Order: sequence, then structure tokens, then C-alpha cells
Amino acid sequence: DIPRFKLNTGQYIPAIGLGTWQSKPGLVGEAVKTAIKVGYRHIDCAKAYGNEKEIGDALQDLFREGIVTRGDLWITSKLWNSDQHPDDVPKALAGSVERLQCGYLDLYLMHWPVALKKGAEGTAPEDFAPLDTKATWQAMEKCVESGGKTKAIGISNFSVEKTEKLLSYAKVVPAVNQVECHPVWQQKKLQPYLRSKGIHLSAYSPMGSGGSSFTEHIKVLDNPLLATLAKKYNKTPAEIALRWNVQLGHSVLPKSTNANRLEQNIDIFDFEISEEDMEKFNSIEQVRILRGDDMWVHDKNSPYKTVEELWDGDI
Ligand code: A2P
Repeated sequence: DIPRFKLNTGQYIPAIGLGTWQSKPGLVGEAVKTAIKVGYRHIDCAKAYGNEKEIGDALQDLFREGIVTRGDLWITSKLWNSDQHPDDVPKALAGSVERLQCGYLDLYLMHWPVALKKGAEGTAPEDFAPLDTKATWQAMEKCVESGGKTKAIGISNFSVEKTEKLLSYAKVVPAVNQVECHPVWQQKKLQPYLRSKGIHLSAYSPMGSGGSSFTEHIKVLDNPLLATLAKKYNKTPAEIALRWNVQLGHSVLPKSTNANRLEQNIDIFDFEISEEDMEKFNSIEQVRILRGDDMWVHDKNSPYKTVEELWDGDI
């Protein structure tokens, strides 16, 4: 069985989940089936990834074949920025549940601290709407309070300051903040903060999203420390990177649509990185890879005129 981490709701989130961002239509369904067959029990989804229907079809096949039941799985999805108006929040949640064909979500996250106009499909200045995170969060709270279609709620891409502000009015403390986290961007400021508030950190791009067009310039898995430790522990650099996060108490969401790599990435529970080797990660030069500036930073309608404002200086 996959280890799990206890959330502030009392639920247990599996330590590893399948990432589905940039998993191509036509491939993601097979990836979900393979992943579940090799032991994954957690799938990380989002409306914005444009592949929820195919994931839902794969889940239906798995249920029909009796390989898993809905109750065996942890399914996360995310509220897209153009659905932040309070009236749209429960509808967007219902839409994800319908596409995923899973009855309910285990976790629903606000995808970004950014609001877009209803129906907006792009990220151009004219697509932005005024940000009202408080109203959106209150609508998220209603989705759990009223026995709605999700068992827990959380946030994604929130800095320390933005999380702190949300906590000033939140009645339901977010269960999770899902953020970029890997050896080259360790979230050194956010990590201790979230721990002190009892908010679980879920790590996206835990291998640095090496193959994506956004990140060509930085290859996390080529880091020499990962190579050294991979040799020492007889594991791959990817497994070292994933294990590092898990040992810090973070769930990891590695994406793959390749059967061998799906198996490799879950094979991280039979070894432990020593405390001394964990310390060595402190010396890795830190670079945020997914800065979001090409999407969310504009001098016109965005609340963020600079990338520093988006991340409150943690960049
Ligand atoms: P693929 O889907 O072909 O396996 P992240 O989870 O950090 O976003 O990284 C995903 C990227 O890393 C994808 O390009 C994925 O490609 C690749 N990848 C997934 N698993 C591994 C692995 N074990 N070793 C190397 N690259 C991997």
C-alpha cells in the first residue's frame, strides 16, 4: 500500500499521485489505467488541463473491470480562474465531477490567485476580471459545508502572504496548497509556513517538468547531486527527487504517460535518503521554474504588475 499523509480534515492523501498536466488526449486515459494497475491511487486533475473526460472514461473502465472502486481512489481537481465568481464555483465543481464521472472529488483547489472573466479562454489582459479571493473562497467553503461534491478544499499557487490573507477570513482552513516543489525550487519560505498552519504541501512538477516548453532551460533531473545520490542508492535521479519531497511530508504529483516511467516513479517506498544526504539539498541553487509571468503578469488588468507581486517576492 502507498503511504498516506494526514490532512487537517482527518482524511489521508496518498503520498504519490499521477500528474495529468500536459498529458495529451489519446495518451492520458491509458496512463491512468496503467498507473492504477501498478498501484497509484491518486490522480491530480484540473479543468484547465482539458483532459478530464478522457480520465473519467478510463476510470469508468477500471470500475467496470473491478480493478478499483471509487472509494479506493483520491481524486483532485481545480477551479479554473474563469469560474471564480461565487455563482460559478459549484457549477464548475459539478462540471469536473461530471467529466471525471466519479461522483465526488476528494479535493477541490482554487487553481491560481488570479480571476479571469467568465468564459475567458486566454490569458490576455482583456480576459482578466477583478480578483475577489474572499468571495471565491467563501463559495468554495459552501461546497464542503453543505455535503457538496467535494470532501475537502484547498488552494494552489498561493504565496505565504496570499495564504496568510486567506486565513484571516477563512472559516475552512485549506487542506492543501499545491505548488511547484522539487530540489531546484524547494519552497524554502512556504514549507515551514504551511507546516506551522497545518496545511499540507502537494508538490507539482516534482521532477521540474523537464520535457515542457516552459522549462527547457532548467533540467532538474540533470542536477549533479541527484546523479550522485542515484548512484549511491541504486535509484534514478527522478526517484531521488520524488523521495526527497516525500521525506519532507509532501505528496508528489509526477506526470508521465510512459508505462516504464510510471512504474519507476512509484518505486520510491523501499529506501530512505539519510539525514546527512537530505542536508546536502540545502546547497542547491534555487530557481523557480514556473514563474507564471507570461500568463498572469500584465500592466493593464492583472492585479500583478510584476512577477514579484504574484509571488510576493518569493521568486
Ligand atoms: P513522460 O510523460 O514521457 O514520462 P513533472 O512531473 O515534474 O511535470 O515532469 C514530467 C516530465 O518528466 C514529463 O516530460 C515526463 O515525460 C518526464 N518524466 C516522467 N517520469 C520520468 C522519469 N522517471 N525520468 C525522467 N523523466 C521523466
